[in-house]
Amino acid sequence: MVEWSDAERSAIAGVWGKVNIDEIGPQALGRLLIVYPWTQRYFGSFGDLSSAAAIMGNPKVAAHGKVVLGALDKAVKNLDNIKATYSSLSLLHCEKLNVDPDNFRLLADCLTIVVSIKLGGAFSPQVQGTFQKFLAVVVAALSSRYF
Ligand code: HEM
Repeated sequence: MVEWSDAERSAIAGVWGKVNIDEIGPQALGRLLIVYPWTQRYFGSFGDLSSAAAIMGNPKVAAHGKVVLGALDKAVKNLDNIKATYSSLSLLHCEKLNVDPDNFRLLADCLTIVVSIKLGGAFSPQVQGTFQKFLAVVVAALSSRYF
């Protein structure tokens, strides 16, 4: 089981308290689709993804970005039980959506960058390290039913 110190718990809560899901979710998913364009293949039903402007203005991208961040909120609230929290979501991405699990890390990286832009100086190296540990645990949990 992953251990979290009190400092780590408060750093994660501190970052998450400054994250507006409705703002950061669309930005993170939009950035994934622009920076790693091959990820667009999973979102064929989302309509126009033909340019960065189209992606950032696409209401389905925005809505799904909020869904993804809403799922991350569950991990923040269940830090000691992230693997179980994501068990069925992992199975869905594996068996039904056929998402290559390498993409989870790419989304985690995009989210880190979007959060860094939002928080500025408050996103210290220590806070970044803890947030990336949190996202690494999320990525491992989402990948857990693939194997
Ligand atoms: C759907 C979470 C990463 C592709 C979903 C859903 C959630 C979710 C909660 C809705 C499930 C449902 O309807 O029951 C997450 C989380 C991620 C993540 C927490 C990582 C932090 C990714 C990545 C991709 C992806 C990296 C592809 C590059 C999809 C697709 C759907 C989906 C295609 C279905 C969308 C639709 O047609 O509505 N995801 N996801 N996900 N996810 Fe993920």
